[in-house]
Amino acid sequence: MNSQENLKTKVAIIGGGPAGLFLSQLLHLHDIESVILERRSREYVLGRIRAGVLEQGTVDLMRRAGIGERIEHEGMIHEGVGIAFENALHHIDLMSLTGGKVVTVYGQTEITQDLYQARDSMDGMIFHEVNEVTLHQLDSAMPYVTFFKDEQSYRIDCDFVAGCDGFHGVSRKSIPQDELTEYHMSYPFGWLGILAETPPVSDEVVYASHERGFSLCSMRNSMLSRYYIQVSLEDQLKDWSDERFWGEFKTRLPAQVSDNLITGSSVEKSIAPLRAFVADNLNYGRLFLAGDAGHIVPPTGAKGLNLAASDVHYLSGALIDYYQSGQEQGLYGYSERALDRIWKSVRFSMWCTLMLHTFSEHTPFERRIQKADLQYLIDSPSAQKMFAENYIGLPY
Ligand code: APR
Ligand code: PHB
Repeated sequence: MNSQENLKTKVAIIGGGPAGLFLSQLLHLHDIESVILERRSREYVLGRIRAGVLEQGTVDLMRRAGIGERIEHEGMIHEGVGIAFENALHHIDLMSLTGGKVVTVYGQTEITQDLYQARDSMDGMIFHEVNEVTLHQLDSAMPYVTFFKDEQSYRIDCDFVAGCDGFHGVSRKSIPQDELTEYHMSYPFGWLGILAETPPVSDEVVYASHERGFSLCSMRNSMLSRYYIQVSLEDQLKDWSDERFWGEFKTRLPAQVSDNLITGSSVEKSIAPLRAFVADNLNYGRLFLAGDAGHIVPPTGAKGLNLAASDVHYLSGALIDYYQSGQEQGLYGYSERALDRIWKSVRFSMWCTLMLHTFSEHTPFERRIQKADLQYLIDSPSAQKMFAENYIGLPY
């Protein structure tokens, strides 16, 4: 085996998903060098189908990161969302309820692609398909990271480590147990999601509650639909032919929506369990966690990717302050600042999840309360305002 190769950078970024890529790009634009270490190939990362509803803060971050051009043309502005239950569709007018704010539908895969392109054009250093990433001396002023790529061993000396490596990554696990509290909540169901090359059933994203289970209508563009249904945790992909999916999906939508449904073969299909998780805190010594490495929300409020963006906003700002003026307060206040917004988004995501899904263990009393919650949202301008304020994204 070759001897170890030694590198030096300011910020070693673990994980090349949106959190890591955004951070690297924003630091670069302020002349702060970073290196990204990603366990998977670029093709694999770009093949993952993830979320798609962006808050204005996320779109603004894209602009600041120099990747605002394509979304300008291809992003779909949504001024409202639909909430369906008991065979009726209701409209929540985000724009009028928030004084002119909207959300943009643009897939996470597209953002990741834009970020990779931007990093390439600036000669950003990204190591793909790395193994055994290990973080060292995080509680010192001289942390370093070791890893292997193609059987070559590497060491990167750095000032800081950014843990952007998702829920299963190594960064959070490198924090001593007594320095970290983890809050977990799992839901007794998952979402089966499909992507189909068909025109979307509705111009708006529709969240539908039904006694057979929740369903969601979303889209990626005018010829690509993204749909989900609530399924049991025991269900496997092989149980869900396209035909069964379409039949079930149609049953759970009000006729006003399902009458427009155009079905076709799926081009992607996956099942994900729903859970919430928060790590407190997001900082240990010279390590900072951002994105899914620090928290997961159930997808019902469309907050996962948007929270990764707000984390990166806070963390990049703190690192830029540190390098420009030696100020450390921002860095050591990062966790508290980010967690305030994270917990509020966890609350919103949990409320949406509880209101819209079918829980087999619910008593008749709980079912009536759930129905009252939905009816209150539809009837009360104040309740709609709270929904809209959260859905378009709480301020940074
Ligand atoms: N070493 C290097 N890279 C790793 C390691 C490791 N030990 N473990 C995981 N990774 C990589 C994963 O392969 C993945 O590409 O870290 C990356 C984390 O990316 P994401 O899971 O996309 O998480 P994040 O960047 O925080 O994005 C936020 O928002 O919509 C939600 O969950 C959705 O991915 C989304 C997230
Ligand atoms: C999606 O388009 O994938 C999507 C939309 C809204 C959600 C979750 C996912 O709440």
